[in-house]
Amino acid sequence: MKEIPRGTLQEQTFYEQVGGEETFRRLAHRFYEGVAEDPLLRPMYPEGDLGPAEERMALFLMQYWGGPRTYSENRGHPRLRMRHAPFTVDRAAHDAWLRHMRDAVDSLDLSEAHRDELWRYLTYAAASMINTPD
Ligand code: HEM
Repeated sequence: MKEIPRGTLQEQTFYEQVGGEETFRRLAHRFYEGVAEDPLLRPMYPEGDLGPAEERMALFLMQYWGGPRTYSENRGHPRLRMRHAPFTVDRAAHDAWLRHMRDAVDSLDLSEAHRDELWRYLTYAAASMINTPD
């Protein structure tokens, strides 16, 4: 029996499987295009320019899914709930956020399994970010 050469069965991370940095940059870009037009979310972003927020989102998601750890090199531990504390994240903000994320996820050509896995995480994370009851 022929042996499989060592090193050829490397496991790919989710980050690699879905296309790496380009995919996460496209996701964050499309998401922030939606935020830019959103009357509830847009005023929540303190900076006039959404570019830096888009960059942080792309880098965070890349790191979360097994890509480079640039987010934490720049920003430290994510502590996302704490970082969202200054903002009113209620049900309406949650729903608007997820609506733009859904649109962004659907704009990528992911397999159904990858899309479902990404979406499961995003819905779980969004629910855990709510800090203001209705
Ligand atoms: C549920 C509704 C949410 C709202 C309304 C919201 C809103 C915001 C706002 C206003 C900021 C500040 C802009 C900035 O400095 O980047 C921010 C930052 C951020 N958000 Fe959210 N967010 C939500 C959920 C989420 C979720 C679910 C994630 C992750 C999956 C996330 C990831 C981030 C990241 C990575 C940052 C930048 C943190 C930093 O390094 O300062 N957000 N968000």
